[in-house]
Amino acid sequence: MVTASVAGLWFASATHASDCSTSSISNPSIPHGQVLDLSATPVNNYNYQNSTLEFCNVTVIYTHPGWNDMIYVNVWLPSSNWNQRLQGAGGGGFSALDSVSDLAKAVAGGYAVVGTDAGHELNPASSDSWSLDESGKVNMALLKDFASVALNDAALVAKDVISGFYGHGPRYSYWNGCSTGGRQGLMLAQRYPTAYDGILANAPAINWPKFIVAEYWPQFVMNQLKSHPPSCVTDAITAAAVKSCDGDDGVKDGVISEPDRCQFDPLTTVNQEINCSGQTVAITRNDALVVQKIWDGMRSVNGSSLWYGLEKGAPLSSGLAITTCSSPSNCTGTPFPISSDWISQFILENPSVDLTQISHEQYQRIFEYSCKKYDPIIGTNNPNLSAFKQAGGKLVTWHGLADQVIFPKGTEKYYNEVEELDPSVRDFYRLFLAPGVQHCEGGDGAIPVDPLESVVNWVERGVAPETLLGKTEDGSRSRKLCQYPLVSVYLGGDSRDASSYACKEASAR
Ligand SMILES: *[C@@H]1O[C@H](CO)[C@@H](O)[C@H](O)[C@H]1NC(C)=O
Ligand SMILES: *[C@@H]1O[C@H](CO)[C@@H](O)[C@H](O)[C@H]1NC(C)=O
Ligand SMILES: *[C@@H]1O[C@H](CO)[C@@H](O)[C@H](O)[C@H]1NC(C)=O
Ligand SMILES: *[C@@H]1O[C@H](CO)[C@@H](O)[C@H](O)[C@H]1NC(C)=O
Ligand SMILES: *[C@@H]1O[C@H](CO)[C@@H](O)[C@H](O)[C@H]1NC(C)=O
Ligand SMILES: *[C@@H]1O[C@H](CO)[C@@H](O)[C@H](O)[C@H]1NC(C)=O
Repeated sequence: MVTASVAGLWFASATHASDCSTSSISNPSIPHGQVLDLSATPVNNYNYQNSTLEFCNVTVIYTHPGWNDMIYVNVWLPSSNWNQRLQGAGGGGFSALDSVSDLAKAVAGGYAVVGTDAGHELNPASSDSWSLDESGKVNMALLKDFASVALNDAALVAKDVISGFYGHGPRYSYWNGCSTGGRQGLMLAQRYPTAYDGILANAPAINWPKFIVAEYWPQFVMNQLKSHPPSCVTDAITAAAVKSCDGDDGVKDGVISEPDRCQFDPLTTVNQEINCSGQTVAITRNDALVVQKIWDGMRSVNGSSLWYGLEKGAPLSSGLAITTCSSPSNCTGTPFPISSDWISQFILENPSVDLTQISHEQYQRIFEYSCKKYDPIIGTNNPNLSAFKQAGGKLVTWHGLADQVIFPKGTEKYYNEVEELDPSVRDFYRLFLAPGVQHCEGGDGAIPVDPLESVVNWVERGVAPETLLGKTEDGSRSRKLCQYPLVSVYLGGDSRDASSYACKEASAR
């Protein structure tokens, strides 16, 4: 095996960045695509945090003839000290690219980086500007661009542009995304197994047609029970669950390590009085039932489970059970916009529909229709990763157990399915759960410090990550996140230090 440093030297001597202009960077070739415009402009004074970045800013505009789409791809190429790598930057919600600062961060790290808009506005919370065509029907071409097609296009565009600018392609290519970015990473592994060598796909929005509809469940149960608890009430119930189960792992750190084992019953909080900004409010039985049903997850009319719920400890008042109140006893529900948008635009094709009035039967039909029509397009749940494995690809996912918008159980389910097809899944794909961490960031748990570096080490040095080092946001505690399904066990010593823990089988504690 050629070591990375030797390869790096070889490439370094072979790399001469050419002019940042269309004379050296020619039009890339895109499957079924036609380039409409390519611009290349040097950027010499881009401020990112405390550094000034110098790079070549390439923008490619293209269409898929017959699809009536127009896609913008941005490639940023460091003017010097390129690390020979490409990074693909992922999206969030309905946006194919989360933030331009992700491009800057990658360039600051020496990467050439690519982002695509997939043919629509970079707006994570709403699909208003693109979901429906002039006739009011779902724009299937733009949905396919968003779901899969534009992701592979962007990788191919970037590789061609890199070859033009540096004289050769990237030595290694990496995907880096969370949420929609995580889904995009898994879509690439499933459908375009040679696009990237290494993929970091965190808190992935896989199973999209199911979980996005199930994200409306908290609002649905509030409407059914005619109880819209203010945030102080849902926060108090979450806090009571954390208090009750925090110590189960031997350490009081405000984090439930294994929400599955937490038997806390929200009904024990009924009649408890809490301080809602100075006003005393008693928790009602329906408030507690709302929380119980949110943790339980979406069910069909006959009571069968349709999808998972949030884990105990995930904040309800900042994700799926948001309410807007004029006083603690007078609140209305505020749906998570990605979920209500998906249902009204992509399922009902009626942006002004009033979802507060839907019956359980209607809601179940929406779920079933969403799966039937959209699983083949954006389900991103094909567990057959054999082509990616064959190509030598390496995949890492971490998912916070206090995720307030994407149910971690969906990620576990997918991982289990991949393992069922291929018992040696750990040779190419590893999953790490992060107790107490919210959606992609935040929460009281330890957040992986540099998970992309773990993917790079796996791809380039063959060092598979056994654990991911995590740190709490305030920097006070560190933890080794365990490879699923292992769990972190406290061994004794300084409970704030990662070295005081080991990863063990859940049953072994
Ligand atoms: C930027 O520089 C200031 C002053 O030196 C420092 O306090 C801060 O932490 C730096 N920020 C980053 C993101 O490096
Ligand atoms: C890169 O070029 C595009 C197209 O000209 C432009 O819209 C964008 O603002 C440029 N980005 C930077 C950082 O200069
Ligand atoms: C209730 O909370 C308010 C702030 O929201 C605080 O000023 C007040 O002291 C609290 N009252 C009690 C009895 O704790
Ligand atoms: C309940 O509904 C689910 C979903 O429609 C269906 O698959 C299942 O067969 C039903 N079970 C019973 C006992 O009717
Ligand atoms: C509840 O709030 C709404 C709007 O904020 C207001 O119109 C209504 O009068 C309030 N109801 C009560 C009982 O306070
Ligand atoms: C998995 O996909 C490969 C092609 O990538 C195919 O050859 C193989 O039969 C599939 N395996 C299963 C179990 O479907």
